[in-house]
Amino acid sequence: MQELLVQNVPYLWLLVAGLTLAYSITKWYTITTDKANQSILVRKFPAIGNDFDWKQTKPLRVRPFENQKNFNVNMKIINLAKTPEDWLLIEDTYLEQTRLRKKFTEMYPNHTYFSYDNEITSAAVREFYEIVTNYLLTRYPQYFKYNWWTGMITNQINGLTFPKHSKSDTPSQLILHLAANIEEDIVILLKDNPKDPEGEYIYRAGVSGFPAGFDPSHGYNKPLSYIHGPVPQYPNRLKLSMGKFFNNLKPKDLWVRHNWSIQTHTAYFSLDSNHGRDGEKIKQLRYDEIDFDNSCFLRCERQILTRLPKSKANIMTVRTFLTPIKQIKAEGLGEELCKGIDGLPDDLAFYKKRGAWGEAVKQYLRE
Ligand code: HEM
Ligand SMILES: *[C@@H]1O[C@H](CO)[C@@H](O)[C@H](O)[C@H]1NC(C)=O
Ligand SMILES: *[C@@H]1O[C@H](CO)[C@@H](O)[C@H](O)[C@H]1NC(C)=O
Repeated sequence: MQELLVQNVPYLWLLVAGLTLAYSITKWYTITTDKANQSILVRKFPAIGNDFDWKQTKPLRVRPFENQKNFNVNMKIINLAKTPEDWLLIEDTYLEQTRLRKKFTEMYPNHTYFSYDNEITSAAVREFYEIVTNYLLTRYPQYFKYNWWTGMITNQINGLTFPKHSKSDTPSQLILHLAANIEEDIVILLKDNPKDPEGEYIYRAGVSGFPAGFDPSHGYNKPLSYIHGPVPQYPNRLKLSMGKFFNNLKPKDLWVRHNWSIQTHTAYFSLDSNHGRDGEKIKQLRYDEIDFDNSCFLRCERQILTRLPKSKANIMTVRTFLTPIKQIKAEGLGEELCKGIDGLPDDLAFYKKRGAWGEAVKQYLRE
């Protein structure tokens, strides 16, 4: 018996070594997949601090035309995973913007928000809703007060009340609560068949309080390629990389991208006026037809992307900033913006209606 054991010691060692290796590999695999599935937005966020005052907080400086060499369309995503607390912003525009969003969603319900009626979409909306209420309560505790007795949160800035948990409301009602309490628009994307790498992401739920010259309802329940149909260079410069990006997006990721254009009116909400469309004749505006002091703006979007850990929906939040052109000029960025305006390739320039405002805006920036 003893002899048998002694003879087999090398094999025993081999067995132990093999088991240890198998165990380590499984362990490593679960840790890495766990990490990838661990949402960057499911956490207790650091509170912004008691010296924070929303009324004194100037809008984030977003100047995406700066230091660019190439103005073709592209992904241009930047990693935000180190500072997830910068996800949703409260600034001096908050009260007025949330008021407008509430108003627009009430005035144009069919054009501003929707949630496709199936189980996975509803689950994604509920999951997203609770991520946002948790964010607001932990990041801005001085402005969002939770009453555990009623289950309601009171917004101390605009006076609205909304539930912390998602179970008592319909997905559309939840989206309306969000629309009236954050300045960011929301896009929820799902695939029909999550296992099909060729399958496209479809816009299944969201709110657009500030559409930048398109009717959001045309994109409801449509794949991204259909939605980007009017975008120049999409088929050859964006389609493939966007498809890969959305397939690979992980809950631990947080990415941000920006875009910009110029508008010669004050409206945040525009269903149909900012973009040049096929066959359209664009009329050049004279310098004196633009009110540079009051109604000419750099319009920027700050788009933030991640994936929800449970429903696996991809989400994008979109914050719109209107910055007076006057301010850009005062910052000394006039010549840099002129470079951006001139740098736009012809097709994108047409899409952004440069023919209308380009010359006049450059004249203003340079004088
Ligand atoms: C990484 C992701 C994305 C990239 C790189 C991207 C890129 C672009 C670009 C380059 C444009 C043209 C306007 C501009 O110069 O910015 C555009 C327009 C647009 N995008 Fe995206 N996009 C992305 C995600 C999305 C998503 C998730 C939606 C969801 C609905 C969306 C909806 C739209 C719409 C509605 C327009 C306006 C189209 C029109 O004029 O009718 N985009 N996008
Ligand atoms: C929204 O669409 C529904 C269904 O098409 C229609 O009955 C309703 O009148 C529309 N509401 C508004 C405010 O246009
Ligand atoms: C920026 O991109 C978004 C979505 O990709 C689009 O809806 C919007 O029209 C663009 N905004 C500007 C100012 O070009």
